[in-house]
Amino acid sequence: MTTIRPYQPFDLPGVYRVCLSTGDSGRDATALYRNPDLLGHIYAGPYPIADPGLTFVAVDEHGVLGYIVATADTLTFETWLEDNWWPRLREQYPRELAGDPGDGTEDWLRVAHLHETKPAPDDLYERYPAHLHIDIMPRGQGSGLGRRLVRTLVEALRSRRVRGLHLGVGSGNPGALAFYKAVGFTEERRAPWGSTMVLDLRGEPNLGPELRSSPFAEAPPAPRR
Ligand SMILES: CC(C)(COP(=O)(O)OP(=O)(O)OC[C@H]1O[C@@H](n2cnc3c(N)ncnc32)[C@H](O)[C@@H]1OP(=O)(O)O)[C@@H](O)C(=O)NCCC(=O)NCCS
Repeated sequence: MTTIRPYQPFDLPGVYRVCLSTGDSGRDATALYRNPDLLGHIYAGPYPIADPGLTFVAVDEHGVLGYIVATADTLTFETWLEDNWWPRLREQYPRELAGDPGDGTEDWLRVAHLHETKPAPDDLYERYPAHLHIDIMPRGQGSGLGRRLVRTLVEALRSRRVRGLHLGVGSGNPGALAFYKAVGFTEERRAPWGSTMVLDLRGEPNLGPELRSSPFAEAPPAPRR
């Protein structure tokens, strides 16, 4: 039985596994990385520390099946990363590792990212200050878990009176784009890399059919594949 609940520190290895297993535009990225932790360091690990209370996991008896991580305030989060998260990672993974070894692995791209990223104000953050990442293992996909995780996060953000939420989805991941549209996001910007999707949290966002009243209740079992 799958349960959605707030993140606990012991969920971190499972969250990193899901991040890697879905990190190639929704597909398994394991073969692309010599270091299995780099994707998690960038796209999952910092969120529950920087902005506690906005990470939720879907778990069953086999471990972490999926997660949603978020921050309520993107610019504050990026500033926190600059002060607290990137410095040690930049020490551990020096810029010299950001060169393409030419063997198809992508560690070097992630190392380049952690050296080059900077807090970047954006007009978008006035209306949509929060952002999220969501990933679910293939065995948990397609049974409404993604919608339930988004709904759970939206309730947490609304209780903090956050006015809007944005996210980026790569052009190589049309399934995720369809998912975000199905749960109520609209496309605010399109670029060669992909789309910026937004959701207004003022009023009652239309997230589709209500599945259960409590966000932490058990989810229905995933269909057999
Ligand atoms: C994208 C993802 C989070 C969606 O979660 P999910 O649990 O599979 O989606 P749900 O079952 O909750 O689906 C909710 C709605 O989205 C639609 N949807 C979900 N995946 C879809 C897909 N690949 N193509 C078309 N529609 C899709 C469903 O049809 C459903 O719509 P409906 O209720 O109107 O029928 C999940 O598939 C996933 O983690 N994928 C791999 C990682 C990834 O791509 N993350 C996003 C990176 S930007």
